Amino acid sequence: MPDRAPFLNTAYSAYHHRERPADDEELTRVGPGTPCGEYLRRFWQPVILSDELRDLPRRLRIMGEDLVAFRDRSGAVGLLELHCPHRGTSLEFGLVSDKGIRCCYHGWLFDVDGTILETPGEPADSTLKDRLFHGAYPVREYQGLVFAYMGPPEKQPDFPVFDTYDLPGYRMVARAPTLWECNWLQVKENSMDPAHLAFLHTLPGSQGFTEDLGALGEWDWMETPAGMVYIDTRRQGDRVWVRVADFIPPNIHQFPPNADPMAKRTVINRPAATTWAVPLDDTHTMQIGYYRAPEGHQPRRGAGFGQDASRTYEDRQRVPGDYDAQVSIHDGMARHGLEHLASTDRGVTMMRSLLRRNIRAVQEGTDPTHPSRVNGGTIVTYAHDRVVSGIPPAATPEEDGRLLREVARSVVVEMIRTGS
Ligand code: FES
Ligand SMILES: [Fe+2]
Repeated sequence: MPDRAPFLNTAYSAYHHRERPADDEELTRVGPGTPCGEYLRRFWQPVILSDELRDLPRRLRIMGEDLVAFRDRSGAVGLLELHCPHRGTSLEFGLVSDKGIRCCYHGWLFDVDGTILETPGEPADSTLKDRLFHGAYPVREYQGLVFAYMGPPEKQPDFPVFDTYDLPGYRMVARAPTLWECNWLQVKENSMDPAHLAFLHTLPGSQGFTEDLGALGEWDWMETPAGMVYIDTRRQGDRVWVRVADFIPPNIHQFPPNADPMAKRTVINRPAATTWAVPLDDTHTMQIGYYRAPEGHQPRRGAGFGQDASRTYEDRQRVPGDYDAQVSIHDGMARHGLEHLASTDRGVTMMRSLLRRNIRAVQEGTDPTHPSRVNGGTIVTYAHDRVVSGIPPAATPEEDGRLLREVARSVVVEMIRTGS
């Protein structure tokens, strides 16, 4: 298969465009042993809402692995391989017990760490349970989400705590996951693509964005100690509105609130959500994370317009949303060899090379960049919007564009310098 299909240069020439380059395996495949899968496994990943673990076990698929999550009656949370090590019955039919989960078939009992507590039916002197374990992953519950670490045990990183987890005046709630039927990367690339705001989100009938976001901004991208940001900048008279969005590797993003602070508020607004794109397998992705709202306001409920497949096909065709634009990219698995990246895709290119760099580092036996290792303690992130006053327009539109980008970069540079 070719790496790349050429751009056609003649009308009516699709006949010459039938070779299909393969997908970019290094960045897209997430199963055990794949380069990207091994990279993603080096980070704590949210896998389910705490609330969903009640009296029944929950079957999960995370990065191509079939698992069962449960909360035993002592309150401990377990994340185990789905199939019983005895003869393979699924533990989704297991009995949640006082301690651990019991397989429904012959009653073997497993603790949350994989310890085999009982093997009823085996002779009393059987040492099987003292010698063997069932597969388990460490979990950690944090503010309504259950996180799992699925990488090599000796490489477990600190649990990262971001500065946006505890913002004075904001309340944070876990957001119910949405399922995106496509590869994780094309979901995540959207977070460094401010250009689509001015088109997709201003289609007649689409909801949830202010008109000001529809205006073309000046766009720029920078690496930060936490990952990278896009900066989307607009002018209003002598004031400049700077919107900064985070991409935090490997799969987290934070957007500013999508509301014009010049019209609505004068304070600096921190992001309304922190979102992970967790691959369930190569072609299914779960978006899950936290919403936050200013004290006294309700955090958003539900997925939001165009953020899932729940609308009718006709509605989605008439007013497509993020879900339709992203999931339909080459039917769920992008073919980078068929793309023709343009100037607005600089953020996507930067994101891919940042990921590739880290994936290769893991392949070579080095640790990937991890925000908690760079920053220590609470991790400083950058997403926010703010208004910078007293910046009169430059003489020409080109010069003003340059001026806006300078103002925008200096906002981020100053945040990096002061660490806040
Ligand atoms: S298959 Fe689970 S105890 Fe036999
Ligand atoms: Fe969007």
